[in-house]
Amino acid sequence: MSITQKAAASLARQTARQQVPALRQTAALVPQRNYADSASTSHANFHSPYRRGTGDRPDTTHIPSFKKYRAGNETGNKVFQYFMIGAFGGLSALGAKDTVQNFLVNMSASADVLAQAKVEIDLASIPVGKNVIVKWRGKPVFIRHRTKDEIKEAEDTDWQKLRDPQADSDRVQKPEWLIMLGVCTHLGCVPIGEAGDFGGWFCPCHGSHYDISGRARKGPAPLNLEIPTYEFSSDEAVVIGA
Ligand code: FES
Repeated sequence: MSITQKAAASLARQTARQQVPALRQTAALVPQRNYADSASTSHANFHSPYRRGTGDRPDTTHIPSFKKYRAGNETGNKVFQYFMIGAFGGLSALGAKDTVQNFLVNMSASADVLAQAKVEIDLASIPVGKNVIVKWRGKPVFIRHRTKDEIKEAEDTDWQKLRDPQADSDRVQKPEWLIMLGVCTHLGCVPIGEAGDFGGWFCPCHGSHYDISGRARKGPAPLNLEIPTYEFSSDEAVVIGA
C-alpha cells in the first residue's frame, strides 16, 4: 500500500468515528417515531383492559373488569340451565327404567317353563294305602293315600317333642292325602316309602327315618319332609304348584 492510500484510509476511519454518535441518536429515535406513527392509525382508539399506568409503563397489579362481557340477564340463564338439567335427568331416568324392565322381562320364566310349574294328578287312580311318586319341577313328589289307622297314628303322635315340631293337621289339607317333596332334608337323597322304624319313609344314604306324616323322627335329617304348594281342583284331582 502506498503512502497516499494509507493516508486516505486513515482519513475515512476518522470521519466515520466522528459520525457514530450522530447515527446512534438517529437509531434511538426510530422506535419513538414508529410508535408515534402507529398512534395515528385506527388501533390508536383501542384501550386494552390490561393497560394501565402512565406512558409505556403498564400497571401490572391491576385486575381488569370484564363486566361488559357478562350476560345481562342472569335469571334467564339459570332458567335455561335448570331446564336442561331437568330434561337430561328425565331422559336418563326413562332410559334406566327401560333397561331394568327389559332385563326383568328377559330373566323371567318363559311360557314353556311356566307350563311345567304346575302338574295335575288324578287321585282316583291311587288306592288306599299306596304311594305314588310324580315329578314336579325336576323333583319327586310323594303322594300317599293314607289309611284310617295311618291317619290316627299321625294325629296321635306327641309332635311337640319332635326335632321339627309340627302337627299332622298342619301338613295336610285332607287327612287321607299326604303330599310332600321326596327330598331328604339331610343331604337331598330320595327316601324309600313304606320303610323305616316309623312306618313312613327311610333314607338309606345316612339312615334318616320319617313317620307316616313325613316328620323326621330318627337319623341326621334335621327337618320334616317339605310340603309343596298344592290345591284340590276337585274331589279326585289335585294341582301341585297352584
Ligand atoms: S341324605 Fe338322607 S339321611 Fe343323609
